[in-house]
Amino acid sequence: MKKQVIIFQLNGEPAEIHIDPAKSLLKVIREEFGLYGTKAGCGKGECGACTVLLEGQAVNSCLIPAGKINGCSVETIENLSRGEDIHPLQKAFAEKGAVQCGFCTPGMIMSAYAFLKSNPRPQPPEVRTAISGNLCRCTGYKQIEAAILAAAPEMDKENKG
Ligand code: FES
Ligand code: FES
Repeated sequence: MKKQVIIFQLNGEPAEIHIDPAKSLLKVIREEFGLYGTKAGCGKGECGACTVLLEGQAVNSCLIPAGKINGCSVETIENLSRGEDIHPLQKAFAEKGAVQCGFCTPGMIMSAYAFLKSNPRPQPPEVRTAISGNLCRCTGYKQIEAAILAAAPEMDKENKG
């Protein structure tokens, strides 16, 4: 397909690319911007490894064509830590043993991040629903659920502060 200029916001900064609009947002993030924190898994919207925020909503970036991000804001896992400080979700995942091979972790954290922004005091079943599109082959989900619940008050405090 003919290339197009796409102008958007990536992790709070203006971004511009000249690209085939059918190329996936996942490829844009990894190949054009070198942000490899977002993982390439199934490529079919089934595993959630490629989850990023598009206009604040968690999406499977492998399913979003670049043409759709024109004028939008995109947030990746790289935007969560600030310098040396890791995000409360990243801290809780490490502390609760929710990271094993780590492949699902960035996508899982981005889904949890989007969810906790609009649900600061979640119940466990709500957390399970929020991450139901993210597959983890290692942990059995219990530690992930515990990490998200543990991070919720900390993230709420940060959002209010
Ligand atoms: S790589 Fe996008 S959902 Fe699996
Ligand atoms: S930690 Fe290995 S897939 Fe989740």
